[in-house]
Order: sequence, then C-alpha cells, then structure tokens
Amino acid sequence: MAAAFTVISLLLSVCVQGAAPVLSFTRSDFPEDFVFGSATSAYQYEGAVAEDGRSPSIWDTFTHAGNMPDKSNGDIAADGYNKYKDDVKLVIDSNLEAYRFSISWSRLIPNGRGAINPKGLEYYNNLIDELATHGVQVHVMISQLDPPQILEDEYGGWLSPKIVEDFTAYADVCFREFGDRVSHWTTLDEVNVAALGSYDIGQIAPGRCSDPFGFGTKKCTVGNSSVEPYIAAHNMLLAHASATRLYREKYQAVQKGVVGINIYTMWAYPLTNSTADLEASQRFLDFYCGWILEPLVFGDYPSVVKKNVGSRLPSFRKVQSEAIRGTIDFIGINHYLSVYVNDHPLEKGIRDFVLDVAADYRVSRTDPPVGQHAPTSIPADPRGLQLMVEYLSEAYGNLPIYIQETGKSISELQASKF
Ligand SMILES: *[C@@H]1O[C@H](CO)[C@@H](O)[C@H](O)[C@H]1NC(C)=O
Ligand SMILES: *[C@@H]1O[C@H](CO)[C@@H](O)[C@H](O)[C@H]1NC(C)=O
Repeated sequence: MAAAFTVISLLLSVCVQGAAPVLSFTRSDFPEDFVFGSATSAYQYEGAVAEDGRSPSIWDTFTHAGNMPDKSNGDIAADGYNKYKDDVKLVIDSNLEAYRFSISWSRLIPNGRGAINPKGLEYYNNLIDELATHGVQVHVMISQLDPPQILEDEYGGWLSPKIVEDFTAYADVCFREFGDRVSHWTTLDEVNVAALGSYDIGQIAPGRCSDPFGFGTKKCTVGNSSVEPYIAAHNMLLAHASATRLYREKYQAVQKGVVGINIYTMWAYPLTNSTADLEASQRFLDFYCGWILEPLVFGDYPSVVKKNVGSRLPSFRKVQSEAIRGTIDFIGINHYLSVYVNDHPLEKGIRDFVLDVAADYRVSRTDPPVGQHAPTSIPADPRGLQLMVEYLSEAYGNLPIYIQETGKSISELQASKF
C-alpha cells in the first residue's frame, strides 16, 4: 500500500500572524513520511510584474481591467520577488519541511516560447538554492493559473491544442534548469475549477463565459460556457501528460523527482439518503474529480460525464488515451469545504458544466442551493477532507496524496465566490 504523504499548506501570513493555537498533537503523532509545508503562488506572491523582463500573464490583464471585486491587482503583492529570503527564513524558523511555490511562465519565458529570461532564471535559482541549502524540500508548481498573455492573444491559451507543445517546452526548461534540486513537480493547479472559473462562469482570468452562465450578475460578452470548459480541461490534461512523459523519459532517472497534478475538491455528502441523492453525490465526485483524474489514471473520462455532456466533450483518440493513462505519480488536492448534494434532473435546454452535473449543492444542510444563495460563512470540514483523501486513494489507484491547500475559508471574498 502506498503511504499517504501529505503536505499541509498554510499561507505564510497565517503562520506568522495567527495566535498560537493550543494543539493536542505533536509531530511524532504523524508518520515520518508525512510532510508539513507551506505554499505560495507566483501571481499572488511575487509582485515585480514589470521588473527584469517579465511579460504580463493573463492575470495582469484581468486585474488591470478592474475585474477583482476590490479592484486589487498583483503589481506588488507580497513583493516576494525582492523579499524571498525573508520568507524562506520564516519557513525555516517555523520548522516546516517543505515549501511549494509556482513559477511565473511569463517571467521565465516572456514570449511564451523560445528565449529564457536570464533574470527570471536567476530569481528561481536563487530561491531554490535558498531552500535547498537549508534542507527544505522543494515542491514546484509549474503553472498556477497564469499563462502568458502573449499566448492568450496568439491562439486563445488553453482553448488551443497548440498550448500543449508550448507548455511542454516550458516545463522542459523548468526540469532542466531546476530539476536537480526539486523533489516534487505539480504541473497545473486546480485543473477542474480553473476550467470552470475561467471558461464557464468567467470569474477568473481570462474571464470567458456565455449568458446566462456568468458568475453572479456578470454579463458575458465573450466565450462559450457549454463547450469551452471541456476544451480547456482537455488541453490541460494533454499538456500535463506530455510534460510528465518528457520528465520520465529525460529526467526522472537522474533527478528522481515525481510529477503530479492538482485539483480543487469538495467532499460531497448526500443531502438525503434517497437513491437519487446518493447517485447525485457520486455524480458530483465523478464530475469534479473524475473528469480530471480518470483520464490520467485510466485513460478516459467517466462514463457519466460522457453521457451528460455528449458531443460537447472532446474525446481522446486511442493514442492520446494511451499517452495520458498513468501519468500521475501523486494527486495534489486543495480542500476548503464540503457540500451537501441533491439530485437536480438533467435540464433539456442549453447547459454548462454546472447543469451537466445534474445536482444542486449547498455548504450547510439547511441553506438553499448555491446559485440561489451566496453563503456568508463556509465551515471548514476536517472529516470531509479525510473522506475525500480516502475516496481518492481508493478510486484512483492508491496514489500518494498531497494536500496542497486547505484551511478555513470564511472571508467575505471567499464566500462571494459562490
Ligand atoms: C457554443 O458552441 C456550441 C457548439 O459549437 C454552439 O452550438 C453554441 O451555439 C455556442 N454558443 C454560444 C453562446 O456561442
Ligand atoms: C443516511 O444514512 C447514514 C447511514 O445509515 C446515516 O448516518 C445518515 O445520518 C443518513 N442521512 C440522512 C440525511 O438521513
């Protein structure tokens, strides 16, 4: 049986500013191969967006168009580009064993493909050296929702299969330049909700959707919520698989790292014990987790996803199916909350992903369904996290699982995501 390795990712600010809680457990209550760490993402962390040759990512464009509820942007963020040494010191002083960060594709390769930016290369080398020389395990996310704007302009980013080749070449640079010191590679972040947030409800960059599926009161001007989320996720899966194969063929024997992918997870409790709700809960898991993990573990989408989405779902040719099957060494998950799920019979008209699931959900048993209601507080659910880890382990081949983000998500902004 594979051990369940876990990285608990806490935001640095939480570690540093939060009052010390009284804990009823110690490090020795956890297995030795359990890993505690913290994490950041490039756009939320680095700042220095126009320094030293970095070009804009789709998030620079998105925030500068005023799309954040509070009109904020990542121009300065945590200024990690300049202050990374202070942050590594916090990691060390907190006795954390691992640190995960993401690489800004448009900082390392400003044209999306081709020439490497020497200043970008130097920054990541310095950061990795700072971690490695202090014995901190280095976990890298290759791209955390922020591909270069230049590729968005050229061919629509994740909507084009052309991105598979460019992503693979970018990953190749990362493996070649940094792989001697990196133990864990995660190709992409929250593939499932990245596809939904970006292309179904249009809430995150590049903010595409079609009416009436926009988030909240968003008026959708460009996009197609019925098909684009499926196309984007399909290309992300092919890009992941291509990069992983490259790593295995060219680097893994020497560098001895592992490669995984990250999905956003919500544990699904059935709202009632009716057969319809029990099936809806399984369908919810098949859509939110299986959509991404089944192709990577077994070579194809779950049958209920194929059935409900029909011809809008891209299919894998036989050679693609063989190329993607078995391309994860571990599953990375983010888990903030659990939901109560009930059956919502499949609607006949135009559908998006949310309607394709044919289920409603809510964060508390007594709430109306999300969609009709934005929850104001979202309870953390450690038991749901445990059930999710057990479920994924059993359903997807007992792979190691890393909890890459978790915590309590009760802020107004988080709640307003619904
Ligand atoms: C979305 O794409 C589908 C399939 O190509 C098409 O039938 C539908 O009209 C498109 N919807 C919009 C809003 O463009
Ligand atoms: C459903 O059945 C399980 C197992 O018997 C029980 O624990 C749970 O409380 C039931 N849920 C509801 C909503 O009745």
